[in-house]
Amino acid sequence: MGVKTPKDLLYRERFRAWERHPNTEVYLTVDHPDKAWKYNVGVVTNLFDQVEIDPRHSIAMMCGPEIMMRYTARSLLSRGIAADRIYVSLERNMKCAIAFCGHCQLGPTFVCREGPVYRYDRIQPWFETREI
Ligand code: FES
Repeated sequence: MGVKTPKDLLYRERFRAWERHPNTEVYLTVDHPDKAWKYNVGVVTNLFDQVEIDPRHSIAMMCGPEIMMRYTARSLLSRGIAADRIYVSLERNMKCAIAFCGHCQLGPTFVCREGPVYRYDRIQPWFETREI
């Protein structure tokens, strides 16, 4: 999980329990740490260098700014995770919510009608193109 400051973290009261679980690893990063921060500093994609991934048994699900998801998806693909094992949640600006106005359009799909969660292989060409 990556956020701007430690105060922006969701579920922070649960991190210790998650860290103690034998099958769970928790990686946190912030852009602007405070004095008590003991985890990473920087963008979330930097955390992938610390994570061991078995691409055959991994599924990635992400939400956040599209630019972050674009770089994260590229990193996951380069680590061998297939595009059909990556899911993104698109939070586009919506107006009509009935696939009429085009505000949420990404290539041939309308996030308000078919989204917001997409399997990456179904949107990759358009998601990789900036300003669409
Ligand atoms: S919000 Fe208008 S097309 Fe999706």
